[in-house]
Amino acid sequence: MTDNPAKAPSMSLAGRTALVTGGTRGIGAATAVALAQSGARVCIVARDAAQVEKMVDECRALELDLSGASADLSRIQDLDRLFDRLSLSKLDMLINNVGTNIRRGAADYSREEFAAVMNTNLISAWELSRLAYPLLRSSSDAAIVNVTSVAGLTHLGTGTPYAMSKAAMIQMTRSLAVEWAADAIRVNAVAPWYTDTPLARGVLNDPEYHAAVVRRTPLGRIATAREVACAIAFLCSASASFITGQCLAVDGGFSAAGFDGLRQDG
Ligand SMILES: NC(=O)c1ccc[n+]([C@@H]2O[C@H](COP(=O)([O-])OP(=O)(O)OC[C@H]3O[C@@H](n4cnc5c(N)ncnc54)[C@H](OP(=O)(O)O)[C@@H]3O)[C@@H](O)[C@H]2O)c1
Repeated sequence: MTDNPAKAPSMSLAGRTALVTGGTRGIGAATAVALAQSGARVCIVARDAAQVEKMVDECRALELDLSGASADLSRIQDLDRLFDRLSLSKLDMLINNVGTNIRRGAADYSREEFAAVMNTNLISAWELSRLAYPLLRSSSDAAIVNVTSVAGLTHLGTGTPYAMSKAAMIQMTRSLAVEWAADAIRVNAVAPWYTDTPLARGVLNDPEYHAAVVRRTPLGRIATAREVACAIAFLCSASASFITGQCLAVDGGFSAAGFDGLRQDG
């Protein structure tokens, strides 16, 4: 990047191509829209083909450059076939966003449940990063953003496999950032706390739990998917050109808050 202090900081992604996994709802959909609104050509992937088609139609109606494909990214066969099916001639940004959770006590997980969480959250990100590497290496401005969680930083009672998968994604982020810095591929992560999406609504629909989450969040509310998407778009942009190997908590101050004995409401 050449420094030109006369130029305003740019969040533009014009001319760049992005692949967003899990782009039909929640954080992935908001990210696909934010990247496309910043000028990128965006491809989304999710399992439900009808939802992919719906998202593509809605975005095209807004004149956003979006295409999509359906695949189950927890399955190695689907991962292996994905890049052939998409036939992308270039790729500048990979957003590893798909994620799932199964909540149980550690002793109660079946091996299949453990594998389902790990394959969806961690193995898909690992394999897709490696599959995308040849295209990203050819880009003059390449970025990977992994969507992890504050559950990868500290205990949240989300279930241990989910926390393990997210913690491993954070270390994968650091390791790939250093290994692929020579190829000018920046690798970062975002770690959201509770965000208003279909995945989180399952637990946030309980008013007492929702209130406890809000009480524990210094900014006093949960995030919108758009707020996480904006952090991802920033990490992809030229404004983040010297940032790599970092995990940015998008958490309303949750991970910064230890104990504040002066607050009356906590
Ligand atoms: N929401 C939160 O509070 C929160 C907090 C911290 C971290 N996160 C992380 O943020 C990411 C997005 O979460 P979200 O809340 O936006 O989830 P969500 O609302 O459940 O959306 C998940 C997206 O991923 C797709 N997907 C799920 N499994 C897939 C698979 N095996 N193959 C392909 N696509 C798949 C879904 O579409 P299909 O079902 O059609 O496949 C959907 O598009 C996840 O990694 C999650 O762990 C979320």
